[in-house]
Amino acid sequence: MTSKRTVVHVFVSVFILSIIKLCNGGVTSSYYRKLEYSTDLPLEVFTPPPGYNAPEQVHITQGDQTGRAVIVSWVTPSKPGSKSVRYWRADTHNKQHKHKAHGHIKTYKYYNYTSGYIHHATIRNLEYNTKYFYELGTGHVTRRFSFTTPPKVGPDVPYTFGIIGDLGQTSDSNQTLEHYHSNKKGQAVLFVGDLSYADNHPFHDNRKWDTWGRFIEKNVAYQPWIWTAGNHELDFLPEHGETVPFKPYKHRYHVPYKESKSTSPLWYSIKRASAYIIVLSSYSAYGKYTPQYEWLQEELPKVNREETPWLIVLTHTPWYNSLNYHYMEGESMRVMFESWFVQHKVDLVLAGHVHAYERSERISNIVYNITDGLCAPVMDPSAPIYITIGDGGNMEGIANSFTEPQPSYSAYREASFGHSILDIKNRTHAHYSWHRNQDGEPVAADSLWLHNRYWYPYAETSTTTTMA
Ligand SMILES: [Fe+2]
Repeated sequence: MTSKRTVVHVFVSVFILSIIKLCNGGVTSSYYRKLEYSTDLPLEVFTPPPGYNAPEQVHITQGDQTGRAVIVSWVTPSKPGSKSVRYWRADTHNKQHKHKAHGHIKTYKYYNYTSGYIHHATIRNLEYNTKYFYELGTGHVTRRFSFTTPPKVGPDVPYTFGIIGDLGQTSDSNQTLEHYHSNKKGQAVLFVGDLSYADNHPFHDNRKWDTWGRFIEKNVAYQPWIWTAGNHELDFLPEHGETVPFKPYKHRYHVPYKESKSTSPLWYSIKRASAYIIVLSSYSAYGKYTPQYEWLQEELPKVNREETPWLIVLTHTPWYNSLNYHYMEGESMRVMFESWFVQHKVDLVLAGHVHAYERSERISNIVYNITDGLCAPVMDPSAPIYITIGDGGNMEGIANSFTEPQPSYSAYREASFGHSILDIKNRTHAHYSWHRNQDGEPVAADSLWLHNRYWYPYAETSTTTTMA
C-alpha cells in the first residue's frame, strides 16, 4: 500500500514538474496556446443596428465621484437626431416616471475620415443600487438598454469588477469579451487601455473606432467600463496633419474627471462601492510640477480608507514586467510614484500593454539611491500587487517570450489571453482570479484571496493552476 502511494506521489510530482517550470521566482505556466496572430475581424462583421440613423456604439461609464451619475454615449451616423436619453426605474411601469437627460453632440475629422454624431449625456441624481432602463433614438428607431447603479459607497460594500486590457477586435478579442460577458458576476469593468487598435491600420482608419464601439456594446451598454488611455489611443499622425494626441479617444470616451478636480480626462478618480479607483496616464507628462504629478500628490491623501478600504490604481504601462516586451517602459513613472503608492498602501496596480498575464508579489524598489547599492525589488507588505493584463487578444498577438530566470518578484506569468475578476467581499478580503479564454468561466488559472493593506495587511497565499 505504502509503495503504491509512493509511486502515485512520484507520478504526481513528475507530472506537476513537467507542466510548470520552477524558477527563482514564481510560476511560469507552460500552458500551450496557438501562436498565430489573429487579424482584425472585417469591418462588415460589426453591422450597425437596423433602422435609419439608429443610435449605435452605446456605452456607459460612471458619471460622478460616487456612482449616482452615469454618462451615456452613443453615435448617430446620418444626422444629429435626438440629444436626449430617456430613463426610468425598472420597477416603475408608469410612463409619467420617465425622465430625460439632455446631452451634447461632437463630431471630429481625422485625416480623410469624418465621424458620425457622437452624443454624451450625463444622467444624475440616480438612486443607489437600483436598476434603470434607458432609451435612445426617436420614432420607430428607438433602442432600449439598462444598467444598475452601485450600492452607496461604504467600507464593507461587496462589489465585483471585471478587468480587461488591450482588447482590439479580433476573434481572440471576441473570445475574451464573450468569456467575460458570460460571467454574470461582473458589475463594472476596469479597462486598462488600448481599445480599438485603429492606429494599426493605414491612416489610423477611424472606421475601426466605430466597429469597436459596436463590438463592445453588448456589455458596455449595460455596465460601466472605467477607462484608461493607452498608447493606441494617442493617434498621433503628424505627417498627415494629425497633431493632437488622443483626438478620437477624447471625442468618443468621456470620463468624470472634473469631479475629482483633475484638469484632464486622462487622469482622474472615482469611488465605487468600497473601492477608490485612481486612473493614471502613462502617455502624459508625470514629472515633478506637471499637472498629473500635482494632481496625484493632492489625490492620494484624500483617500479615506475608513470609507473606501480598497485603493486600486489603473495605468497602461506596467512597472514590473518580466517579459521581453516593452522593457523598462514603465520605469520612469515607477521612479516618480512608487514611494507614494507604498506610503499610501495601494492594494492593487493594474496595467496592460504587454500582451500576456503576469502577477507580482507584494514588492517595492524604493530604497535605491546612487550609493547604497540596493537596486533590486524587495518584499514589502505595504506595497501593491502589480497585475499585467494586456491579454485581451488584439491583432498584435500574444507576448510569449519571458526573461529567464523568472525574477523573484514575479509570482505567476502566462502567455494566454483572458480577463480577471476582482470580487470584493468586505473591508478585509477580496477574491481575485484570472480566467484564460480556453477555460470555462468557473476555472481560475491564477487566483488568490487579497488582504486589504489598510485593514488586514497580512501575507496572501495564491492558488495557481497551470492546466485547465
Ligand atoms: Fe499598449
